[in-house]
Amino acid sequence: MQKAKLTLDKDFTISEVDPRLFGGFVEHLGRHIYTGIYEPEHPTADEQGFRQDVIDLVKDLRMPVMRYPGGNFVSGYRWEDGVGAKDQRPARLDLAWGAKEPNTFGTNEFADWCKKVNSAPMLAVNLGTRGPEQAQELVEYCNHPGGTYWSDWRKSHGYANPHNVKLWCLGNEMDGPWQMGSKTAFEYGRIANEAAKLMKWTDPSIETVLCGSSGRGMRTFGKWEWESLHESYDNVDYLSLHTYYGNASDDTPSFLAQPDNMADFIRESVALSDAVGASKKSKKKIHMSFDEWNVWYQTPDQVDQDEKWSVGRHQLEQKYTMEDALVVGGMLITLLTHADRVKVGCIAQVVNVIGPVMTDPGGSAWKQSIYHPFEAAATYGQGTVLHSLIDAPTYDSKSRDKASVVMVASVLGEDSLTVFAVNRDPSGQPVELTGNLRGFENWSGVQHSVLINDDLKARNTADAPSRVAPQSAETLPTLDGANFTAILPPYSWNVIRFTL
Ligand code: AHR
Repeated sequence: MQKAKLTLDKDFTISEVDPRLFGGFVEHLGRHIYTGIYEPEHPTADEQGFRQDVIDLVKDLRMPVMRYPGGNFVSGYRWEDGVGAKDQRPARLDLAWGAKEPNTFGTNEFADWCKKVNSAPMLAVNLGTRGPEQAQELVEYCNHPGGTYWSDWRKSHGYANPHNVKLWCLGNEMDGPWQMGSKTAFEYGRIANEAAKLMKWTDPSIETVLCGSSGRGMRTFGKWEWESLHESYDNVDYLSLHTYYGNASDDTPSFLAQPDNMADFIRESVALSDAVGASKKSKKKIHMSFDEWNVWYQTPDQVDQDEKWSVGRHQLEQKYTMEDALVVGGMLITLLTHADRVKVGCIAQVVNVIGPVMTDPGGSAWKQSIYHPFEAAATYGQGTVLHSLIDAPTYDSKSRDKASVVMVASVLGEDSLTVFAVNRDPSGQPVELTGNLRGFENWSGVQHSVLINDDLKARNTADAPSRVAPQSAETLPTLDGANFTAILPPYSWNVIRFTL
């Protein structure tokens, strides 16, 4: 058995967790909206056509913010098409995903759905085919109390009170050639700055998110952040980061090490932002919004499904495995251990499209494997993150060298300390984790839940929705004063909770 040592000290803290770290992302893509969230003919549909079975599952994920409506979709979106009387809304071509967009679900429906899942909208504006003017108008429509053209338009649609949307994304992945209206860093920095200015003049309480590189692997990563932030620094509050990992070449050790690359990406983006701040002699700090992250294999067949230009195509319907859940667990641990600078996070996405929740049209909704680590982190990862000093063996793989066989994040809540841990040891052995918890002698109990499966490729399906589901650990951790010993089973996600 491998051995790992964890040292924590109550006074050695990283940061309070911003609850928005555990947000979600809803895009008009595939079956996310149509037959996912919205299916008026479904047996569980409520009076607005929202699937209640989906609402129940999403609610338990406790996502305080929900990014919408894209993604690539937003770069061609006319938000005006999706409001007002449904029978007068135009159907349009969605050039991002080759689908027909009926616009029977739009901004107001989204705001209503957010309330039903206890979330708050985080809206993206179109800076691809449109610009500052339409972005400003959407802020006025959503947030201005009334007495002006756009706010009164909202009222005429049955929404007397403003939606008060606080977080606004300034476009999406504007460096990507696949993006409608993609731009150079300078072009984007200028347009983002002008849009943010008008949006903030309309509602000074809002916060804005600048698009960082659409991935760390982009040729322009670094230069993009430097230039676009230079143009917009004073009018933006967050820099966005996006990352997806897959295991297409079936190299599990390498795949499981990927969350360490996510950590590097965060550190590099923080350094770039701070460098711009330093060059401007600014006291302001830009924080990170990791508003797209997940496991996604990105195989072309996931996009080219069903007839082109049809509504609700089967697209990006990733069927998540046990090992995918371990990577998602590792990514959650990475977000927590960087909570000092990452304030917003959105798993991409939520329903059907690379999502923790899957549905059958007219049928059931179920939890994918990745649902479980997310739910645990969102539930127990609230409070103060402590430095987790880990002394454990490491391994080398194609994706990086010296990955610790155990990943750990520790969060001190009001009356509990939670240790999240992934055992990713490629030798497939259990790991004995001994912990020295300085300043925590007076706990009254301990629980240990694990997510494991002998088959790393095991998945949940409509017929077997609990094949990959958390269970109690076979042996509870032993406690001795400020020390504990726990066994982390091979290839496992672990949630160890000490009641204080
Ligand atoms: O989440 C799927 C897609 O990935 C989004 O539309 C885009 O922003 C990213 O490239």
